[in-house]
Amino acid sequence: MLQLEKVNVYYGESHILRDVSFSMESGQVVCLMGRNGVGKTTTLKAVMGLLPVRSGRVQFGETDITKEATDRRAKRGVVYVPQGREVIPHLTVRENLQLGFWARSSASNATTEKAAFEDVYQLFPKLTQILDRPGGVLSGGEQQQLAIGRALLSDPNVLLLDEPTEGIQPSVVDQIEDVIIGFKNQRRFAILLVEQGLHFAARLADAYVIMAKGAVVAAGKTSELSAEEVRRHLVV
Ligand SMILES: Nc1ncnc2c1ncn2[C@@H]1O[C@H](COP(=O)(O)OP(=O)(O)OP(=O)(O)O)[C@@H](O)[C@H]1O
Ligand SMILES: [Mg+2]
Repeated sequence: MLQLEKVNVYYGESHILRDVSFSMESGQVVCLMGRNGVGKTTTLKAVMGLLPVRSGRVQFGETDITKEATDRRAKRGVVYVPQGREVIPHLTVRENLQLGFWARSSASNATTEKAAFEDVYQLFPKLTQILDRPGGVLSGGEQQQLAIGRALLSDPNVLLLDEPTEGIQPSVVDQIEDVIIGFKNQRRFAILLVEQGLHFAARLADAYVIMAKGAVVAAGKTSELSAEEVRRHLVV
């Protein structure tokens, strides 16, 4: 459903992504791994259309979206939860969630709206207690729950999650893990997950892609990820 073919991305003259290719199927969870600065976030941004692809191709279903604007991709259900989470600070939790619902592409009505919000509240009960609080005052864990909740409300086909557990206390990490496992079991949408934590990837993902210096250096089924690959590309 999502395919990258020899994608090259530059920041100015710096060549950041080098012939990055991989693909994922509907409902699949793929974990993108690699050390700091190898280009994981840049890859997600290229998929989302936040950075121009100088050469290569991004294909979504039957469509070449390489040159498509970010908002068009969002309408196709490509939804990005950035590494810094980026909740809107002066809007309340409720308003932040509402933005997600408005961004959805599928037909919606009052019933689906209520059900969609209920779904999110069930996954993240904490949010119901802080609906009127401005996004800017939330703790890191609350912001992450809000950011994922908002992404869900936009009804994704593929969810791009950039290090959702970074800098978050263990109990909230467990909760976010459980939510991701829940999505995986339902297989309603695909997830491209950036995570450095090996156990997290092994527990959650169907497949992995490892990057080093802007290129894909290993990829396969998570069940077949070898200790040798981990040692070469992941352990510092
Ligand atoms: N706006 C920018 N201008 C110039 N270089 C950039 C910019 N953003 C990122 N880079 C560089 O691109 C490279 C890849 O960065 P990227 O953020 O994709 O790495 P990452 O794999 O997500 O790292 P991390 O694990 O630290 O989040 C890095 O060398 C970084 O310094
Ligand atoms: Mg990053």
